[in-house]
Amino acid sequence: MSILFHDQTKTFHLFNEKISYIMTVLPNHQMGQLYFGKKIRDREDFSHLLEYCSRPMTSCVFEDDRTFSLEHVKQEYGVYGTTDYRRPAVEILSSNGSRLSDFKYQDYKITPGKPALAGLPATYTEADSEAETLTLILKDSVTGMTLHLLYTIFADGGIIARSAQLINNGSESVHVTTAMSLCLDLPDHNYEWMQFSGAWARERHLITRKLEHGIVAVDSRRGNSSHNHNPFVILRRPDTNEFQGEAIGFSLIYSGNFLAQAETDTHDTTRVLLGIHPMGFDWKLAPQESFQTPEAVMVYTDSGLNSLSQTFHRLYQKRLARGYWRDRERPVLNNNWEATYFNFTEDRLVEIASKAKECGVELFVLDDGWFGERNDDHAGLGDWIANPKRLPNGITGLAQRIEDLGLKFGLWFEPEMTNKNSDLYRNHPDWILETPGRSTSPGRSQHVLDFSRKEVVDCIYEMMAKILSEAKVSYIKWDMNRSITECYSHALPADRQGEVFHRYILGVYDLYERLTSRFPHVLFESCASGGGRFDPGMLYYAPQAWASDNSDAVSRLKIQYGSSYCYPLSSIGSHVSVVPNHQVYRTTPLHTRANTAFFGAFGYELDLNKLTPEELVQVKQQVAFMKEYRRLLQFGTFYRILSPFEGNVTCWMCVSDDKKQAIAGWYRVLNGANLPFSRIRLQGLNPDFCYKEQASGASYYGDELMNLGLITTDGMSGQPEDIHAKYCDFDSRLYVLTAE
Ligand code: DGJ
Repeated sequence: MSILFHDQTKTFHLFNEKISYIMTVLPNHQMGQLYFGKKIRDREDFSHLLEYCSRPMTSCVFEDDRTFSLEHVKQEYGVYGTTDYRRPAVEILSSNGSRLSDFKYQDYKITPGKPALAGLPATYTEADSEAETLTLILKDSVTGMTLHLLYTIFADGGIIARSAQLINNGSESVHVTTAMSLCLDLPDHNYEWMQFSGAWARERHLITRKLEHGIVAVDSRRGNSSHNHNPFVILRRPDTNEFQGEAIGFSLIYSGNFLAQAETDTHDTTRVLLGIHPMGFDWKLAPQESFQTPEAVMVYTDSGLNSLSQTFHRLYQKRLARGYWRDRERPVLNNNWEATYFNFTEDRLVEIASKAKECGVELFVLDDGWFGERNDDHAGLGDWIANPKRLPNGITGLAQRIEDLGLKFGLWFEPEMTNKNSDLYRNHPDWILETPGRSTSPGRSQHVLDFSRKEVVDCIYEMMAKILSEAKVSYIKWDMNRSITECYSHALPADRQGEVFHRYILGVYDLYERLTSRFPHVLFESCASGGGRFDPGMLYYAPQAWASDNSDAVSRLKIQYGSSYCYPLSSIGSHVSVVPNHQVYRTTPLHTRANTAFFGAFGYELDLNKLTPEELVQVKQQVAFMKEYRRLLQFGTFYRILSPFEGNVTCWMCVSDDKKQAIAGWYRVLNGANLPFSRIRLQGLNPDFCYKEQASGASYYGDELMNLGLITTDGMSGQPEDIHAKYCDFDSRLYVLTAE
């Protein structure tokens, strides 16, 4: 990996073995983008990549040169208002009412490693040799604003991390109304756009469409990254599939309002923008103040979408997630939510936990309802003190009883919320986000606390830290069950209200940072009514996230498959729940529920006491299986093979680093009669290894499995103890392959 600067031509070339990223100082001294893609050899002069021509109707930047117009020139951080009519990367409102900026190149800095971004989650390095960072320093002489554009190239993988910092070195306040994390101008538009969208209980479903002239975008203006759209998109060439071809993934390490957009102009160039949503954003920058954008990560591949995802998985697993749990296998847990909802006592919880222990579960999690007057979802949020009527011995007593069973104890919080029926709200009615004189929208009967205020975050921190320091709590499920409405802080002046959404998220990050550093051994799982904040920002603090409130195995195929495009399996919380399922009322076999949930951070979302003796035998086998293979399932190399978005059969697999072990999951939604023989070509194996398939005892060479394929029809394999299940709807099988 290297970052070269060619002084003569003022050209920067960032490259490693996979990629090149090239940019130059344009004749007007702004920064121009020349190339991002597969590695090309370095040369002093890449100026032939600058395409000049005269555009009718467009004023030119220079009096005597009709060919230099920003209308078609590819840029690093485009500005609207001169000759570039595309959506801008930055917009600053000056004190004279102008929104024009002209950031001219001044200087650069190359540093080993990667700097941290104050108060924000970001990828990191553990050794300087892992990455190199280029900081471009640009200045607008009229406003005195300085712009730092940061580019980190990692030694491994086609990864570039980007962010921007604006510093007001002028003498007057300005308002930053747009500051994107990433702007990438591509020379053509021969791409398909992939987005991961849905709604509550059907998150991250893949949608693909071709880029055409105009704008395609996904966003969130809800205050959380949202169930509806994920801050992750891919541009792939039309002939790219999971196994071959070019693609670029764009991921924003942020948990609040975002915009991911591709604009194709009528000269066929494509501008990708990714960052905080400009709508409603207005950050006042007084002289000497600075604003740091969140980080965006771009990954380029020429080897298909699996390779793109694997690069994101490695980066986010190893250099975004942090701390004690980063590299550790995740405990098999039993959560009481769907088992009891709000209807529990201490003894009832211990009864559920005892059965879980008998089945081999390692962690018991007490969900919503343990605190304040929380007998249903109308009261209690914010009063983080155990309800003595339910828990006479408090959290300390319950946690001890769970520990005495030989289990770890985990606890649910929803730190960012309050109900009007709570002591917290009664004592601090101005601590919620609400707009003066307007009605409030109490989603799930609750209100969002104003986390832009330090005293609010301090108060919640104190309550949580007290419980964590008094009781034996090994895990926290951090929930967030409503989006922000009527966004307004009682503590900020009128001209800073446009900062509230972002300040709120900074407050959330601050609370996470304080708790994770004071209680480093506690495993945090993020959650937002399921997958409403399943994003890389959260992953920095909480190495796993509850992927969806929908725990139906068939629905989960799409949710987990969609999530896997960006997020590693170790981050995908996935549990076995009861049937008929509580979200879609479907009855799926127990083995399929487990076979789906195994590919993630595994657990149970039910009362195991309610299962039949036969089912309990199966559960014990499942827990034992997960414990034996979880390193492979959570940290192995993951391949998508057959997509639930395309057909009746889904297949995915994990391969160990040494390729000696692999597990393929095969799932068929609806059964059929008289079906054809079918084979699935596996991926990532060693062609020369001979693999034994556990269920059938048959052996196959890696090259056979990858080129001829694994025969998945009933005649050849299956799980003998489940003969009847081979003929059912919602069937599934696991193929465990071990090199002999
Ligand atoms: C939403 C979560 O996703 C559920 O798992 C559960 O914790 C409930 N909230 C509790 O209110």
